[in-house]
Amino acid sequence: MPYIFITGVSTGIGFDAMKTLIQHGYHVIGTVRKEIDAASIRQQFAEKCTILVFDVTDVQTCLSEMQKAFTLIKKDGLHTLINNAGIAVPGPLECLTDEEFELQMNVNVLAVRRITNLLLPYLGTNRNYKPGIIINISSVSGLFNSPYNGAYCISKHALESMTDVYRRELSMFGIRVMAIEPGPIKTEIWSKSKGTLDRFKDTAYGELLSSADKMIESSEKSAFDVGVISSIIVDIITGKTSKTRHLVHRKPFLFKLLAYYLPDKMVDKLVAKTIAKKDNYRPV
Ligand SMILES: NC(=O)c1ccc[n+]([C@@H]2O[C@H](COP(=O)([O-])OP(=O)(O)OC[C@H]3O[C@@H](n4cnc5c(N)ncnc54)[C@H](OP(=O)(O)O)[C@@H]3O)[C@@H](O)[C@H]2O)c1
Repeated sequence: MPYIFITGVSTGIGFDAMKTLIQHGYHVIGTVRKEIDAASIRQQFAEKCTILVFDVTDVQTCLSEMQKAFTLIKKDGLHTLINNAGIAVPGPLECLTDEEFELQMNVNVLAVRRITNLLLPYLGTNRNYKPGIIINISSVSGLFNSPYNGAYCISKHALESMTDVYRRELSMFGIRVMAIEPGPIKTEIWSKSKGTLDRFKDTAYGELLSSADKMIESSEKSAFDVGVISSIIVDIITGKTSKTRHLVHRKPFLFKLLAYYLPDKMVDKLVAKTIAKKDNYRPV
């Protein structure tokens, strides 16, 4: 049975991808942080999944839990790795502590490279195994830099870069590497973001960020259902698409114009206008 490894399957995009891929006949090796999530998933999907419990920033526990994955995939290798686990650490760059900034990079960037490298032999850098697929769950924030969401944007830009570098380094093995770049998707990440800007209310940015929760709510309302991402994942895995980037946005043309084609100074002015209207904050 083909094995698919997904980080962060407790909720959101990771959970839906796991459910969908199990329905398509794959065995999913998923990671969660909490035993209670592991127990609930095992109860729902029984032998169709294997759940590892570790925080992606905890190197030792990660290494020991990954041994269970190696045991499963050592015969036939790994079909696909989906690097999904991620967090958003919001706030003006000036106000974030080193620890907060480092946590953002640890989860969204460093851990992705570490887990990818551990699995690469089974994805085909060991030529005894068939070439596999790597899907990185990036974000529109990997293409466009929004103020007060800087740490997250920087982490997702790094992930975009990592996607390209791995794809070019791994093409000689036949390993396919691509990114999915979602705009707002209805998941728990939004509720996790609510109230997180309150702690900056006594800073110079406080007044500007006072409407952040309202913005989060309106972004969440216009968000796509999570199944949109699972469908793209299925299309990639079944070979229906070979695109290296999958932008998921209600207005992709406008977004691309903003992200790629308009001059910086024009974009800065547009951003400044939305800031003036206190209409500027999007957390993922
Ligand atoms: N939803 C959106 O609008 C959106 C848009 C663009 C990109 N994305 C990206 O999509 C990915 C999935 O996010 P989501 O929207 O599905 O959010 P979510 O429901 O909050 O899921 C995030 C997953 O990552 C896990 N995770 C977080 N920190 C971790 C850590 N230190 N170690 C191990 N696992 C950790 C979470 O586990 P816990 O349950 O234990 O916290 C959860 O399983 C993220 O990379 C996010 O940046 C989401």
